[in-house]
Amino acid sequence: MSLLKMEGITKVFPGVRANDDITFDLEPGEVHALVGENGAGKTTLMKILYGLYSPDSGTISINDKTISIKNPKDAIAQGIGMVHQHFMLVPPFTALENIVLGDETHQFGMLKMGDPARKVEKLMLDNNLRVELNAKVEELAVGVQQRIEILKILYRGAEILVFDEPTAVLTPQEVDELFKTFREMKKQGKGIIFISHKLDEVLDIADRITVIRRGQIIKTIPGKGATKPIIAELMVGKPVLLKVDNPEKEQGDKVLEINQLTVLKENNLKSLDNIDLSIYSGEIYGIAGVEGNGQTELIAAIADKLHSVEGSILLNGENITALDVRNRREKGISHIPEDRHKHGLIKPYSLIDNMCLGRHHLPPFVKKFDFIDEKAKRKFAQEMISDYDVRTPSEDVTANSLSGGNQQKIIIAREVSADPALLLASQPTRGVDIGATEFIYKQLVKAKMEGKAVLLVSADLDEIMSLSDRIGVMYKGKIIKEFKRADATKEQVGFYMMGGEKHES
Ligand SMILES: Nc1ncnc2c1ncn2[C@@H]1O[C@H](COP(=O)(O)OP(=O)(O)OP(=O)(O)O)[C@@H](O)[C@H]1O
Ligand SMILES: [Mg+2]
Repeated sequence: MSLLKMEGITKVFPGVRANDDITFDLEPGEVHALVGENGAGKTTLMKILYGLYSPDSGTISINDKTISIKNPKDAIAQGIGMVHQHFMLVPPFTALENIVLGDETHQFGMLKMGDPARKVEKLMLDNNLRVELNAKVEELAVGVQQRIEILKILYRGAEILVFDEPTAVLTPQEVDELFKTFREMKKQGKGIIFISHKLDEVLDIADRITVIRRGQIIKTIPGKGATKPIIAELMVGKPVLLKVDNPEKEQGDKVLEINQLTVLKENNLKSLDNIDLSIYSGEIYGIAGVEGNGQTELIAAIADKLHSVEGSILLNGENITALDVRNRREKGISHIPEDRHKHGLIKPYSLIDNMCLGRHHLPPFVKKFDFIDEKAKRKFAQEMISDYDVRTPSEDVTANSLSGGNQQKIIIAREVSADPALLLASQPTRGVDIGATEFIYKQLVKAKMEGKAVLLVSADLDEIMSLSDRIGVMYKGKIIKEFKRADATKEQVGFYMMGGEKHES
């Protein structure tokens, strides 16, 4: 008997068969991984299961009984829970309030919290989910917020749990904890659907792996015996090179020079503490570090004019500390931002407009007398879509309608094609599939070989290790250690990411 069976699911969006006659099943007590390229149709299938989209055809059954799911409420009633990538919590409420919200028990018109608290505590114990229940959600780290989301689902009695790229926002330690939770839930006979682009994680946790390509099921294989090259080839349809060809280039002129840079937060604490950093033409400088140690602020301070900044930032010898974003871009800074939804795209705009963003006021996109040249914009967007292999039915659709990885390709295309002196790349492959990751790595290496200076920030240590010519480790707002590529091992970099000697004592 399967816990869940989806049969013959088809869903067509204008110009795209997102799901094409998909059949997928889930056993009790298993983790079934769903993998595939960006835009393959994974999220669409899960949104159908959760009642957020209705399929054009196909059936869903639970415990061999066909059911109808018209909205998330139906899905929840059928024991289906979904952990979204962007959490849906209420920040000023406590963890407990968030878990219980929408499912409260009342007595004499008052919220009754005693019993729910006991129930939640048991769920925490049984599922390796530690949360400070009285803490306000806004004060909690992302990893903890995710645990609250999981508790919320379990509280409503979920037997089928869907995780759409849950690990993209987690540290390696948090991923280990999440997988412990998966193992506990398996013991209770729950079924878990796990979506991830990180194939090492998939191999670590999945009992079965289903590969989906361009809306169709390619194959389901057991996790045991699967390898990264096997999965990657099933996903992409041809062998994928899992290694980066990254030759060294002779160091050129100094492109970026940062002197004694300090940035204060609202509470007057230092998010950047007296940073000195120089990056040269023809090198990739990688910043390693556990998230939240100042990486975001460092990139922000170079890309834009911030409040409460001390120190100076020079680009090709010119002091740009007082310049605003637009002027900095015109001087040759490109920026692949960490949060593509907030800072990378205008989602309701077309791909054409998004591709030209930031340069829309410059030739070739404006002609004499400030007339906008729509033809030039369209031609440019078409070229970029083809060069960067953006999977989209046309350049006229909105950025909104693209899958996550394809949105990222739009940003990469725009920023790299601007031919910058300095390229800031923050988490450039987050949520990006293996083929596109390989492609983005090639673009970063190409930029360096063309003599650009690249500043790379990534939570993925493998990414830092394979791309960087020099590595700086950030800890509590400082660069506490710098390595040349040849001298760096993963263990050593990891040691400094935890604070180095200071941490040891
Ligand atoms: N609301 C929508 N309107 C139009 N097209 C959509 C919509 N949602 C998804 N699509 C299209 O359906 C296809 C599948 O998208 P989906 O988000 O399911 O991919 P995915 O496998 O989850 O990719 P990723 O790994 O990038 O998250 C894509 O081509 C996407 O552009
Ligand atoms: Mg998706």
